[in-house]
Amino acid sequence: MRVLVTGGAGFVGSHVVDALRGCGHEALVFDVREDSGADVRDRAAVGRALVGVDAVCHQAAMVGLGDGVADAAEYVSRNDLGTAVLLAAMAEAGVGRLVLAGSMVVYGEGRYACARHGVVRPGPRVVADLEAGRFEPGCPVCGEALAPGLVGEDAPVDPRNVYATTKLAQEHLAAAWARATGGSAVSLRYHNVYGPRMPRDTPYAGVASFFRSALARGEAPRVFEDGRQRRDFVHVRDVAAANVAALEAGTESGALAVYNAGSGEPRTVGEMAWALAAACGGPEPVVTGEYRLGDVRHITADSARLRAELGWKPRVGFEEGMAEFAAE
Ligand SMILES: NC(=O)c1ccc[n+]([C@@H]2O[C@H](COP(=O)([O-])OP(=O)(O)OC[C@H]3O[C@@H](n4cnc5c(N)ncnc54)[C@H](O)[C@@H]3O)[C@@H](O)[C@H]2O)c1
Ligand SMILES: [Zn+2]
Repeated sequence: MRVLVTGGAGFVGSHVVDALRGCGHEALVFDVREDSGADVRDRAAVGRALVGVDAVCHQAAMVGLGDGVADAAEYVSRNDLGTAVLLAAMAEAGVGRLVLAGSMVVYGEGRYACARHGVVRPGPRVVADLEAGRFEPGCPVCGEALAPGLVGEDAPVDPRNVYATTKLAQEHLAAAWARATGGSAVSLRYHNVYGPRMPRDTPYAGVASFFRSALARGEAPRVFEDGRQRRDFVHVRDVAAANVAALEAGTESGALAVYNAGSGEPRTVGEMAWALAAACGGPEPVVTGEYRLGDVRHITADSARLRAELGWKPRVGFEEGMAEFAAE
């Protein structure tokens, strides 16, 4: 298969390129970062790149929380206008297969259960609670403590920031494209991806990268809130393999198929900081109680659908992956 990988010079995209080539496919890189400066918003450039292509793996995006609303126009431009231009060009070129880098950020707060009210959706956390160190969202009905659970693909979407909104819009655009063209579209909703080539020291880098950079400077990783916020850390090679599986699968045409792509092994941010500190030989993490408005408390995936339908399973364990990442 000949696959155009947008964002193919980036963190996840470069591993997708490696994985495709490793499986005997042809991978073409399309990225603003490359010498060619290929921008997904450039209709003519996309059209030229699509000649002879069987499928598109769309990783190009502006990532991270960034500067919030100040960056909104740039997020929308790169992520949503970029996706729209790409899809229009695919329709014209007759390229009918798309795999999209989705994100767990579309869910907002994860799935929670109240002992009395069952599954509930807590609203955004308020400053007064966070300032007082009340990090756990309470039941929206009775205010009691909630038990976090795994988020399935059918959970309602609830994007809580600009980036999340643009990632959700990408999916809606892909679904509209699939309906209109009969093409096949898959969104892989990545959870917290980490591993080799993860960007360092940018405001957009993930938390594992911040901790590793601190450790490299001989400083303690600074863990926000109380360190007990739960995430699903999934290794980048596993995410790349999920992309290959999705590209190879003959998914249902005319609709968007959505899959969580997580390790299925929830960990806390504190645990991750400790694992990295141990692998780097210290110093020990410091729990600061700081917070970022817009961060969700817990978000952990149920990735059973991806395992069942695409035959994918994660291969890199948490300890092994973090040790490799620390040593990179
Ligand atoms: N890293 C994660 O934890 C994570 C989690 C969920 C979803 N995602 C998604 O995965 C994808 C890849 O993210 P990443 O972590 O590898 O980030 P990254 O920044 O390393 O890669 C993105 C790449 O896209 C390129 N790009 C940006 N705008 C472009 C444009 N207009 N035209 C062409 N190329 C453009 C960048 O140059 C970069 O190489 C993104 O769609 C992101 O939203 C990542
Ligand atoms: Zn309740």
